[in-house]
Amino acid sequence: MFRHLPPAVIVILGTLLGALSMLSVARAASPVELKPVKVDLPESDRMFQGSGAAAINNNCLACHSAGMVLNQPALSRQAWTAEVNKMITAYKAPVAPEDVGAIVDYLDRIKGEK
Ligand code: HEC
Repeated sequence: MFRHLPPAVIVILGTLLGALSMLSVARAASPVELKPVKVDLPESDRMFQGSGAAAINNNCLACHSAGMVLNQPALSRQAWTAEVNKMITAYKAPVAPEDVGAIVDYLDRIKGEK
């Protein structure tokens, strides 16, 4: 059908057709509609318990569960301090500086080397 047209015209026609078909794809895809989906995920609402747990609950549950911490072996106070600092420096945990002491106190109390 396009045999009699010079190649340049065919290229231009092809480009136009391609652009047109992309337009129709874009139109078909929009408007984007976001719908809420109800999904039941297994819950991990395990938190740190007991007195003095507020600081660790506020600072340490954003990225992993309390289990990640509670399943570790008992450590010295120095090792827990290093662990909290590792979260802050290596993993960029947004820990309030004034809470670090209370977090280490709590860890030393419940998972400290006795
Ligand atoms: C910004 C995210 C983030 C926050 C907030 C965070 N952690 Fe972590 N934590 C990590 C990552 C990442 C790992 C490594 C996970 C892995 O190896 O699968 C980890 C691992 C751990 C481990 C396992 C031992 C290790 O070093 O890998 C302990 C214990 C731990 N975190 C304690 C804490 C404590 C205590 C706090 C609060 C001071 C805290 N985390 C806050 C990201 C975070």
